[in-house]
Amino acid sequence: MSENTGKITVLAPAKVNLHLAVKEKRPDGFHNLESVFLAVNFGDTLHFMLNNHENSHDLTMEGMNFSLPAEKNIINRALSVFRAKTGFSKGIAIRAEKRIPVGGGLGGGSSNAAYALLAFNKLAGSPLDKNALLELGSALGSDVPFFIYETAAAWVTGRGEFINPLNNIPQLFFVLVNPGFQSDTASAFRLLDEYRKNPRYDAGIPSSKNENNLFPGIQEIGSWLKYRNDFLQVFDEKERSVYNEIIFQLTEQGAVYANLSGAGSTCFGVFNNIEQAQKTAQVLRERWPFVQECGLLENTILST
Ligand code: C5P
Repeated sequence: MSENTGKITVLAPAKVNLHLAVKEKRPDGFHNLESVFLAVNFGDTLHFMLNNHENSHDLTMEGMNFSLPAEKNIINRALSVFRAKTGFSKGIAIRAEKRIPVGGGLGGGSSNAAYALLAFNKLAGSPLDKNALLELGSALGSDVPFFIYETAAAWVTGRGEFINPLNNIPQLFFVLVNPGFQSDTASAFRLLDEYRKNPRYDAGIPSSKNENNLFPGIQEIGSWLKYRNDFLQVFDEKERSVYNEIIFQLTEQGAVYANLSGAGSTCFGVFNNIEQAQKTAQVLRERWPFVQECGLLENTILST
């Protein structure tokens, strides 16, 4: 982030999980993951402006209805942990223009938290280095460290804290499709645990050690046949059929790959050219409440 002028506007991008393998449950209750995260050039716009009211903050959310009490909002939680860690006491006004569907598997809350931490750090004169920001971020949510890296693509492991940025990513385009309902991440992990206890599920829980690790081959994005999302099969018939219908429609329109992102509820299709992504978005918009075409993330600083 560039020079400190007391205000900054950033894009807090959405992500999709090109691949999401859920491994064993750990003693701390989280699951180890192996995932390919891609950040896209669509997201929420966050405006930050310092003022002279010591220790005050004022958060305005625009674009969606939020029932959460203010102190539970992840941007306010990010500010609290940042103030506690650094002693930063300037007043700050924050305006969030929300576009990323909430509970949609696109990392909206995590991205807001990460880009808020990055902005606070910039406005405070960079008291924290990347490692300190990563540590603060991972306490706020498992997907936050990926966004702290400010990279377009990464191989992500652990509960989400180990990030290997991927380079040489081809130009890709995406169509994001949300069916109009939310998915709760903690409940989806519980469903997955239940699903794997079923004796009919005889593949065993793929452990991080015994399953072929995709990472060596993933240096080049495009191993489409190897990608999967372990959550897709664990939902009930009704939800699964909605996801499968969207994935079918995306594929029918020419997506080279389509799947569910995160623990749902948004599906995405990958396209090699923008025209086809735009045409697909136009067709699917007639059927689904949220459809957005986008490309890979390029720039996150909108103004300073
Ligand atoms: O960290 P985050 O707030 O995204 O996690 C929400 C919930 O999802 C956790 O409380 C946990 O139950 C589950 N989770 C998990 N393994 C992960 C990430 C999340 O079991 N790697």
